[in-house]
Amino acid sequence: MRQLLDTRSAGLIGRESAAAELESLLREKRLVTVVGPGGVGKTALAAQVGGRLLDEPWAAAGTADLAPLDVPGLVPHSLARALRIDGSTALPQLPALADAIGRRPMLLVVDTCDRRAEECGETLAQLVEACPALHVLATSRIPLAASDTFPLASPAPDTGVQLLTSAAREAGATEDPDPDLARRICAALDGLPLALRIAGGQLAHRDADDLLTLIGRPDQLLDLPAPMPGLPYRLRTLRGSLCWSVRLCSPGERLLWARAGVFTGPFTRDDALTVCADERLPPDDLVLAFDGLANHSLLTPGPPGTFRMSAATRAYGKQMLELLGEDAEFRRRALTHCLQNALTP
Ligand SMILES: Nc1ncnc2c1ncn2[C@@H]1O[C@H](COP(=O)(O)OP(=O)(O)OP(=O)(O)O)[C@@H](O)[C@H]1O
Ligand SMILES: [Mg+2]
Repeated sequence: MRQLLDTRSAGLIGRESAAAELESLLREKRLVTVVGPGGVGKTALAAQVGGRLLDEPWAAAGTADLAPLDVPGLVPHSLARALRIDGSTALPQLPALADAIGRRPMLLVVDTCDRRAEECGETLAQLVEACPALHVLATSRIPLAASDTFPLASPAPDTGVQLLTSAAREAGATEDPDPDLARRICAALDGLPLALRIAGGQLAHRDADDLLTLIGRPDQLLDLPAPMPGLPYRLRTLRGSLCWSVRLCSPGERLLWARAGVFTGPFTRDDALTVCADERLPPDDLVLAFDGLANHSLLTPGPPGTFRMSAATRAYGKQMLELLGEDAEFRRRALTHCLQNALTP
């Protein structure tokens, strides 16, 4: 556990109060899931909080990364391995695992639950119920049923600038970017830590104004490489991060993602119904898909009733829409809707 904690939480910027809040919630509730979009820093934060708690007298403490679980039924096995509990069978089931943990104090960090969100939610809730001194800190892009949720959003703009500057220095940049350009880069990337680390890496060999132009082009933005070596595919580019989410979406959610990418600012569900519904995505299906995208942390809530998509999510949607050959049509529909709204008193 210590190794993952050291590598993933090193140099965390601007999350002190989030870490303190998460730690106290975990002590109180025993099962807490950090939920937010890909690359926002869920694993990094969970690793930091796990690291802080590691020196307490746990009977066992461990980390399970569930990202590789591509078949159902293996969650208890992964948790048992993380806690170094060897059952008599090769694949322990939930009751055997709960018996093995019993009343002993244990700490589990369960990372990347989204791929098996339903199974994870059920397993972790039953385990925490059966084991009164077990504490579980999970991370997921999708909330887990029966777990307390700790929502994680991008840090504030000043922290974003700090993160960008520190990533640039780490990648070998000899000068800090101009503060105004740095703020504009952060805003263009919605302050998303993964995107800022990628952008920081670019600043080692590119001017900040070049970079600003580059990230304004959806096709370039998605494929800029992260400067950190040895990261999982999901964290090497923004495309990798969004590919992970697209695989977790239903066909209706993917279609709405592509179409709703035409909104450049905040939009409501009614806006989406007006612009994005048709016979392929009837209103009832659209409403389900809309809630699904919000649940997958792909729509960020704004002022009451409104949502927006991050620039990278929109860029990915735009490419899906182009592949579908629907780009011109839905851009026209969005523009018409926008004009009608502007003309309606
Ligand atoms: N506050 C921060 N300060 C510095 N670096 C950060 C911060 N938050 C995240 N990072 C870095 O950004 C990258 C993405 O973070 P992380 O892996 O925690 O995202 P995630 O939300 O867990 O993404 P996913 O949903 O794909 O698992 C990592 O390289 C991480 O070290
Ligand atoms: Mg993660």
